[in-house]
Amino acid sequence: MKFYYSPASPFVRKCMLVAHERDLTSKLELVTVSTTVVAPDPKLAEVNPLKRIPALVTDDGALLVDSRVICAYLDALHDGKRLIPRSGPKRFEVMTLEAIADGIADSAVNNRYETALRPAEKQWKEWSDGQMGKITSALDYLESQGTRSLGREPHLGSLALGSALGYLDFRYPDWNWRRGRPKLKRWFEKLCERPSFMATDPNKN
Ligand code: BEZ
Repeated sequence: MKFYYSPASPFVRKCMLVAHERDLTSKLELVTVSTTVVAPDPKLAEVNPLKRIPALVTDDGALLVDSRVICAYLDALHDGKRLIPRSGPKRFEVMTLEAIADGIADSAVNNRYETALRPAEKQWKEWSDGQMGKITSALDYLESQGTRSLGREPHLGSLALGSALGYLDFRYPDWNWRRGRPKLKRWFEKLCERPSFMATDPNKN
């Protein structure tokens, strides 16, 4: 399988975390791309009409986008415990946590584009503040829920959240998402000890 990839992307990292947690990395041929909306990578544009990462081309030549589809596909390839529960209320709890985590990552990536790529005179402060406000309220919500539902063993929701928090550390090191959120802070510290998190740390890749 060809996996179109940049280690900085939290959505890519989520897929890589699934691959590491379920011993699938040897099945992935990594194709590194450097792509933005204004300068799409031609290698990526050839296979993904949306010109976005992550994208996966299976051994049968099928295109899979986006990260949720790719993670669900990878999760169906192994014989271990499923990262997305097959049924029951836990299935939708995990999927919702993944969606909230992806929303945090979405706002963080969009705001990164706004502040790092857009010319200073065109930047829109209220829009940036709105994106960071979404991240703040999502993190406050998760802190208020406690970390019990994040589980002892990782599932796709906790991997997605770990990836989003790692991206905040990577691109917003001075923002200090940990302040006032001791439960998330403790939970994340433990998660970062996992080999899958160490192998995919964007600061080291
Ligand atoms: C980043 O450099 O922050 C980034 C790169 C690719 C996708 C998303 C974010």
